[in-house]
Amino acid sequence: MLLIILLTFTHLCHSATINSDNHQFLKLPLLHINPLQSPSQAFHSDSARLSALLSTLHRKPNLPVTSGAYAGAGQYFVTLHLGTPPQLLLLIADTGSDLIWVTCSACREDCNRTRPPHSAFLARHSSSYFLNHCYDRECQLVPHPRPAVACNHTRLHSPCRYEYSYADGSITNGFFAKETTSFNSSSGELLQHESLAFGCGFKISGPSVSGPSFNGAQGVMGLGRGSISFVTQLGRRFGNKFSYCLKDYTIAPPPTSYLLIGTGARNSRMRYTPLQTNPLASPFYYIGIQNIYVDKVKVRVSPSIWNIDRMGNGGTIVDSGTTLTFLPDTAYRRVVAAFRRRIKFPTPAVSPPNFDLCINVSGIRRPSLPKLSFTLVGKSVFSPPVGNYIIDTAQDVKCLALQPVTSDGGFAVIGNLMQQGFLFEFDIGKSRLGFSRSGCSRA
Ligand SMILES: *[C@@H]1O[C@H](CO)[C@@H](O)[C@H](O)[C@H]1NC(C)=O
Ligand SMILES: *[C@@H]1O[C@H](CO)[C@@H](O)[C@H](O)[C@H]1NC(C)=O
Ligand SMILES: *[C@@H]1O[C@H](CO)[C@@H](O)[C@H](O)[C@H]1NC(C)=O
Ligand SMILES: *[C@@H]1O[C@H](CO)[C@@H](O)[C@H](O)[C@H]1NC(C)=O
Repeated sequence: MLLIILLTFTHLCHSATINSDNHQFLKLPLLHINPLQSPSQAFHSDSARLSALLSTLHRKPNLPVTSGAYAGAGQYFVTLHLGTPPQLLLLIADTGSDLIWVTCSACREDCNRTRPPHSAFLARHSSSYFLNHCYDRECQLVPHPRPAVACNHTRLHSPCRYEYSYADGSITNGFFAKETTSFNSSSGELLQHESLAFGCGFKISGPSVSGPSFNGAQGVMGLGRGSISFVTQLGRRFGNKFSYCLKDYTIAPPPTSYLLIGTGARNSRMRYTPLQTNPLASPFYYIGIQNIYVDKVKVRVSPSIWNIDRMGNGGTIVDSGTTLTFLPDTAYRRVVAAFRRRIKFPTPAVSPPNFDLCINVSGIRRPSLPKLSFTLVGKSVFSPPVGNYIIDTAQDVKCLALQPVTSDGGFAVIGNLMQQGFLFEFDIGKSRLGFSRSGCSRA
């Protein structure tokens, strides 16, 4: 089984051809869309933002094997041109899962009446759509629906079926196919990547992949470490690296963030921490936290709470698809206690639910707040700005935007809010994560 997967993986890499050779990177704009507001609204109202954040709270990580794209709110989106002629689709950029999938429609004629433009990928309108057979090696790379249907290789119409589930139980189910995808290169040239393996989803359910929290997206671009992810499929050509800088989306008008596939500009201030491996070979990007500090005072917890155990449980992932940051329960409680000891502001009359520490900063223009920092394996220090973890939830009310991991087998998550304002470089080839406070202006 392992051998089959390895073979297929190699096969996929070889089939990854881009017409032109001398391109260093692809630059795709990342759009931040608040699910509870139309994109045309320039200002984010506090209450809408809070509800969006709260809607993620019930989707805690509990199934480390599949994915972390359980958030749905406060997401970053990326556009993808798929098919011939290209169809424009909007996908959630998710470092917590592997599969690229889009909502598909089998519509043949007069599709605009049943499907508004860009609401689904119309497979029949593309001349380069190729459906994998269940017997194809590629089909071994995706999880199949259960109960399993035996693959009859003599039958012509036995498509490769996939079913991929996310940590909150959301599911995408359909056919595993191949398509041509096109990009504008950094020099403005049109690049084509043939045989992008992706899921053509016909049955989609669950909070993180449907309904308002999906906010008009047509699918997910999995940027995880596994063999079917977007970065792995395109990676060889672009140096097995990608980076992004998530800019503060509460600024109006929101600045554009970019997803860069390949090597970006050199950044001498980049700090690195090795990517950890999970024995379960999950798609996540794990990093090792050594200690947490609140105002330079070490939070006393056993270092072992950060470890990935032999069963693949625990550890800390960096996930663009999760909004808030989740810490192991003990660490969380001690961090909250440390903040509480240092914060001298009163508690608001009404605190939003699900946050353990909120303050009323009425009348104080620039309240001084404790600084959170993390020391990581490899001796690097991650010191996010206060706005990445103490957020405005209402007029004069600020809350500590951290959450505990309570489920058994759960893992800690550095969510996208905590990542804001840093350039993150996922260097898969060298198995390390780089981060830098400078470099966002160029990213
Ligand atoms: C309907 O879809 C076709 C492509 O299938 C497109 O060329 C045409 O402009 C669409 N019409 C409307 C009214 O959107
Ligand atoms: C496979 O498909 C062929 C052609 O449809 C059919 O004759 C054969 O019985 C099938 N085999 C099995 C094991 O279902
Ligand atoms: C490339 O850029 C042109 C001009 O900005 C745009 O019209 C086109 O849709 C882009 N194509 C892709 C594949 O991004
Ligand atoms: C915050 O404190 C001010 C002044 O004490 C008070 O008027 C206001 O109602 C408080 N706001 C909340 C949400 O508690």
